[in-house]
Amino acid sequence: MPERLQAIRGMHDVLPEQAPIWQHLEDHARAVVEGYGYREMRTPLLEPVELFKRSIGEVTDIVEKEMYAFEDRGGDRLALRPEGTASCVRAALEHGLLEQPQRIWYRGPMFRRERPQRGRYRQFHQIGVEAFGLAGPDIDLEIIVMTRRLWQALGLTDLRLELNSLGDAGERARYRADLVNHLRAHETALDDDSRRRLETNPLRVLDSKNPDLAAVIAAAPSLLDYLGEASRTHFDALCAGLDDIGIGYRINPRLVRGLDYYNRTVFEWITDALGAQGTVCAGGRYDGLVAQLGGRETPAVGFALGTERLLDLIDTSAITTGPDAYLVALGERAAAAAPGLAERLRDAVPGLRLLTHCGGGSFKRQFKKADKSGARLALILGDDEAAAGTVSCKPLRGGGGEQRTLSFDAAVAVLRETCNAR
Ligand code: HAM
Repeated sequence: MPERLQAIRGMHDVLPEQAPIWQHLEDHARAVVEGYGYREMRTPLLEPVELFKRSIGEVTDIVEKEMYAFEDRGGDRLALRPEGTASCVRAALEHGLLEQPQRIWYRGPMFRRERPQRGRYRQFHQIGVEAFGLAGPDIDLEIIVMTRRLWQALGLTDLRLELNSLGDAGERARYRADLVNHLRAHETALDDDSRRRLETNPLRVLDSKNPDLAAVIAAAPSLLDYLGEASRTHFDALCAGLDDIGIGYRINPRLVRGLDYYNRTVFEWITDALGAQGTVCAGGRYDGLVAQLGGRETPAVGFALGTERLLDLIDTSAITTGPDAYLVALGERAAAAAPGLAERLRDAVPGLRLLTHCGGGSFKRQFKKADKSGARLALILGDDEAAAGTVSCKPLRGGGGEQRTLSFDAAVAVLRETCNAR
């Protein structure tokens, strides 16, 4: 027997019984973001490595350790995208979309070679939005309000919002100098990773999960104390907007994010229900990135949510996955008439999920299949019904019920009702 091959570690199949839950999330997300005027964009999964180096930053975990980067047969250095923002900016620039403000959303798989665990995968999925050309705190507020609306639509109640401002480049440089002094003064307490970061990307030390560093990090200066007038006003206006709409938040001066392109607003939605991988959605402002990738100065802000992490939180019991009806046919005449009947029912009831039995067999066998399919109704076509132009209908769920013989129109009415109740 040839050896069976398996999916790559950290990369998962979404099986048919799981797909409706993905669709449930994706449908809600799409409805919410399109309700705010965001338009979908789809970009390739492969991009030049250089794009991610120049946007996410050379000295970040993602670029240094986690990218699936390789040389293709033509010698080009390519990478599977580890996130969507860089691709979005690249495409928006390439197609001249940034002459005016844009609200864009995307979804799809992203790839990072991290150590797999619950909530952390090597192929995972994001749904993200990016807004370009809008500099004020009103758009920061809009995207956060939009995420809250999505949590409400999905019935998620225990997510908390953390916020910070990273200021602008000058403010961060002043902060960085003081932070480095502070960390140097405690260098013996640092671990290897943090000592290295101290030289290359000291703000990332604040994000260390090493408990031994907690005290040093807690005693570090706070970025918020370094904000100038304009950054402070921007941040205060965002906070006031959140207060006004009634969205609770915690200002976390240690929230720095793992990608280098951010300035001013950064935020994360976090849950305690998923253990270490509790951030379900994250984003912020990145006013410098478009210019860094060769465009004109263009303010920008966005977020991405982790589909798998959110799916882990959703109550799936109310999501219906089975078909509305399963059509069984008994007898030669009925078997010949069934496909035609099924098509007329599909014509009459848009969106109907109707499974037709294939392969014949006894009534018992067909009925068993109908029940196993999870259908709400069994439609039974015998030779008599086929001759009379009727069909019998038996509820299979919710306590069952009597089998009734229905005219075509009556069957259509029952199926419409079943479809609508889904
Ligand atoms: P990020 O924080 O790297 O930001 O990822 C956003 C979200 O994707 C995370 O909060 C998490 O839910 C999910 N995620 C990240 N890595 C994994 C993984 N290995 N397994 C499962 N889920 C994961 C970005 O990607 C930015 N592009 C967000 C953004 C958009 N900022 C501005 N616009």
